[in-house]
Amino acid sequence: MTVRRYHPALVVLHWLLGFLIIAQLASGYFVVSRIPNADPGKLGTLKIHMLLGMLIFLLFVVRFFVRLFTSHPPPTAEQQHGIGQLRTPIHWLFYVLVVAMVGSGWYTGWLISDAYATPGATLRADLPELPSRMFHAWTALVLFLLIILHVAAAAREYMTGDRNIFGRMGFGERRG
Ligand code: HEM
Repeated sequence: MTVRRYHPALVVLHWLLGFLIIAQLASGYFVVSRIPNADPGKLGTLKIHMLLGMLIFLLFVVRFFVRLFTSHPPPTAEQQHGIGQLRTPIHWLFYVLVVAMVGSGWYTGWLISDAYATPGATLRADLPELPSRMFHAWTALVLFLLIILHVAAAAREYMTGDRNIFGRMGFGERRG
């Protein structure tokens, strides 16, 4: 069956994940990493960041299976030639980056878990230099750039190609 839009569950997950990932990137850069590691209050803020990161991962796994078992609209004309063909590898790269973010965050969380187990402790001073923490920060930058590219590609498609590009990731009649 040919459909004009993605499944409503996928639509909800797409916009929810977009919002959560952008919020996680912004709060990671502008809140979490700016609090001094010697501040005991950082433990609580970082815990919220880690829990949100795991929620993002869980929703990503759900999204993966919903995508696998639902029908989607065929690629637009623009997506079938030239630079448009990068669409599929770029979408896969999103999965790779989210798994890399969660894996490196999780491992860093394990390296600092002593601070959570010891009453009155603060985060280790060398947290910024931990290789997994540095990997986490660099991957966050690549993820951010990829989101910009993703939004720019959708905007370009809207202006020069298929006007229904945002409608495909929206609610409404799917057939026809
Ligand atoms: C998609 C999910 C995630 C995103 C987008 C994200 C984003 C970020 C960002 C932007 C930073 C600041 C990097 C910098 O200073 O330049 C950060 C730091 C950090 N994140 Fe995540 N993160 C995610 C998931 C996780 C998870 C699942 C965990 C752990 C379970 C985690 C643990 C940490 C830790 C320990 C830091 C270091 C905080 C510091 O040094 O001040 N993150 N994250």
